Amino acid sequence: MKNRENWNSRLGFILAASGSAVGLGNIWKFPTMVAENGGAAFTLIYLICIFVVGLSILLAELIIGRKTQLSAVGAYKKLSKKKMWVFNGFLGTLSADVILSFYVVVGGWTLKYSFLSLFGFLNNLNSLTQSESIFNNFISLRFEPLFWQSSFMLITIFVIINGIKNGIEKWSKIMMPFIIILLIILAIRGLLLDGSVEGLKFLFNPKFDLITPHSIVLALGHSFFTLSLGMGTMVAYGSYLNNKQNLLMSGIWIIVLDTFIALVAGIAIFTTVFALGSEPQEGAGFIFTVLPIIFNQLIGGQLWSTVFFTLLFMAALTSSISLLEVVTSYFVDERKWSRKKSTIIFGGIIIIVGMFCSLSLGGGLNISPFKNITFFNLMDLISSKYMLPIGGLLVSLFIIFEFKVSNFIKELNHKNSFFILNKKFVLLIFTISSIVVGFILINEIYSLLSGSSIIGNK
Ligand code: PHE
Repeated sequence: MKNRENWNSRLGFILAASGSAVGLGNIWKFPTMVAENGGAAFTLIYLICIFVVGLSILLAELIIGRKTQLSAVGAYKKLSKKKMWVFNGFLGTLSADVILSFYVVVGGWTLKYSFLSLFGFLNNLNSLTQSESIFNNFISLRFEPLFWQSSFMLITIFVIINGIKNGIEKWSKIMMPFIIILLIILAIRGLLLDGSVEGLKFLFNPKFDLITPHSIVLALGHSFFTLSLGMGTMVAYGSYLNNKQNLLMSGIWIIVLDTFIALVAGIAIFTTVFALGSEPQEGAGFIFTVLPIIFNQLIGGQLWSTVFFTLLFMAALTSSISLLEVVTSYFVDERKWSRKKSTIIFGGIIIIVGMFCSLSLGGGLNISPFKNITFFNLMDLISSKYMLPIGGLLVSLFIIFEFKVSNFIKELNHKNSFFILNKKFVLLIFTISSIVVGFILINEIYSLLSGSSIIGNK
């Protein structure tokens, strides 16, 4: 393939791919989900999903990209004549748009809260009602959130226009170490507080009676979301790889980093929340309402809160870059548009769709097209619960029936002297992944249509 830009180094690739994986999913969604679904029991299911289903699909996507040196749609076209797989490429490109539309809204909030903390505007908060009213007022305003989300999108566009080495890789290499170091500092800060043990217990001491079928579905959907799977991001990132590296180890690194960061974020948040006598709250605003008050009770609160929201902003940025790259790379590869043109046009379109998400939160447009769910939540729901698992299932079936497990193993064994992969074992893993994801999808669709669930209700 002529002149495809490649990652500069293996480290650069691992940081860019884990930058995609580490995002709002780890620091905003994961702690909220843990809080809403019975703490540690949820953590455990999540870890199982990540290491069994997540790893196999992650490696499959990277291999599909690397083998073809193309983004998803082109990659499937090159590897197979069947329309179903090419459809999966298109589905992924659509999922990227859907996710981005609400992702940029929250990205805008992180930017706004970084500024609020930096300039001391959160310093006087001392009650939850006060901080909830600031947050709720802000997100339901008509224009201000649009300003912040557009700024967030413009930064994303800027990074992508500069390409793989000088854009995505360069910025991931700068931001990822920052995110990791800052989060570790925050976690240590939390652990040193009296009473932090309660937070640790909440996160790591499982209460199995709290596990419900509903939480299993959530954990599985979230493992796709947090690893950026089922929508072609990892196919696109894999397509900028050459044949020189050991993919298996890179994949394991990406998963370990992503999981590590979700857990460290959980430690930082829950130790602090429990130590200061507060309770984890339900709802998307948890991070933006409870944490600012908690930080205020610490010495140097303004600094801690600035550190936290800045790192959240950076984590969101490295992920939104990878989401927009899916769309950009499709237009570059398949439509032969320039990188600049595709990025600007689609960045612009996302700003517009994102406006609907933001305005559905109270800014005047009461769009709740389905079962009274706001447009914002609907975008989150259809992508995490349906689009990504369908995408992931198709990847897994693609490896079994079209690409073949033996070729998958051949790609992985290249440059790999650590593990000898057994064909039967790999086939078993893909079969288990397909059955689990397929069953959960059928159950979700069934419960959507009938209002009850095959595996029992919440
Ligand atoms: N993995 C990102 C997160 O955890 C979100 C994401 C999903 C990014 C899908 C790219 C593709 O926030």
